[in-house]
Amino acid sequence: MTEPAAFPRIALCASQALVERGDAWVFDVLLWGRPARAFALRFEGRVVGYLNRCVHVAAEMDWQPGRFLDTQKRWIVCALHGATFEPSDGYCIAGPGRGQRLRALRVEEEGGQVWWWPDADVRPAPPPPAPTLS
Ligand code: FES
Repeated sequence: MTEPAAFPRIALCASQALVERGDAWVFDVLLWGRPARAFALRFEGRVVGYLNRCVHVAAEMDWQPGRFLDTQKRWIVCALHGATFEPSDGYCIAGPGRGQRLRALRVEEEGGQVWWWPDADVRPAPPPPAPTLS
């Protein structure tokens, strides 16, 4: 029997928005109550999700917004100093941080939708404030 999730799931994007080894879906989160970013991408048919925070320095890793994979579309490579991660499990196989692992998020697909389950550490960011009329 599966344990009930502590936090309700959140719809991230339509499944079709994530193409195999394509751009990631980047979204705002709160990491221990502070603004951070996370991403979901499709690799070998499965959607994986990670905090957008390198294990070497606490910095975002994408080359351009949503671009995490190398030119061969095989590895997640940090744009700052080249730490190289296995997309399927976030394990750092080369570069600074070798042997460490990206912080994974629980993401799943159901009904043509990609879902994210927040947890005790990584929670949804509040929506931006509504524009005001002056
Ligand atoms: S910050 Fe990612 S390799 Fe240095």
